[in-house]
Amino acid sequence: MTSLSLNKQSILSRNSPIGVFDSGVGGISVLKHIHTLLPHENLLYVADSKYAPYGGRTPAEITARCFEIADFLIKKNAKALVVACNTATAAAIDAMRAKYDLPIIGMEPAVKPAAAATKNGIIGVLATVGTLKSAQFAALLETYGRNVEVVTQACVGLVECVERGELSNSSTLELIQQYCKPLLNEGADTIVLGCTHYPFVRPLIEQAVGKEVALIDTGAAVAKYLQKRLQELGLLSKAKKAAEVVFYTNSDAENAKQVISQLWGQSAEVKRL
Ligand code: DGL
Repeated sequence: MTSLSLNKQSILSRNSPIGVFDSGVGGISVLKHIHTLLPHENLLYVADSKYAPYGGRTPAEITARCFEIADFLIKKNAKALVVACNTATAAAIDAMRAKYDLPIIGMEPAVKPAAAATKNGIIGVLATVGTLKSAQFAALLETYGRNVEVVTQACVGLVECVERGELSNSSTLELIQQYCKPLLNEGADTIVLGCTHYPFVRPLIEQAVGKEVALIDTGAAVAKYLQKRLQELGLLSKAKKAAEVVFYTNSDAENAKQVISQLWGQSAEVKRL
């Protein structure tokens, strides 16, 4: 969607919250960038953890989940949606934009900046099976990956480690070492973190690949693009007070609130979805 109808724009209010969601807690890595850049915007975050990981689900299943969450956030008066999930963006963003008349920001693995940054012409992409298999990812490679060698690696099980809050466990490190090895063997000097859960294990990825390899993720760029879109549409909040950030989760895990607070970096207000 490139523009809002006047009618709809007048209904959307600059004081309304921004809705952000992911298959689980990974999108909190994007939420942090949004909160830092736009500290006066109220934020609603949905962690669809009961259905995580999305990586092995069909596009139809993921689209159904995205519709349910979008309906929830729109009922809560969201003025814009951020799909803080590469897998959900690949599966469902077109259908979402066709269905809903509000700004919807998605995200994709940072192949373009990685292709521009690589010195030896070899980039690696760590992502979910769903993202790597998607038509959107194929189109991304076609557009931006033509002049570089792109080595991809699906990281099955890594989303679950982050969902459990296992950010520095030896088992998480072993999994990461296993997945980074093929990229290092091929000589990648730049690696894309193509899933929003992965920035939370960045220190372990750095440990696995060494200081010489550059890691790229898209959280900051998504926040900037969101700011630009809201600005264009006259929907940036003019509030001066600190924003409210509310988390919703359908996780059955006993430590769900603790994991969300751990990733958010402070005690989080967590409600049941
Ligand atoms: N954070 C999601 C992404 O960016 C993870 C998807 C999943 O649950 O597999 O792709």
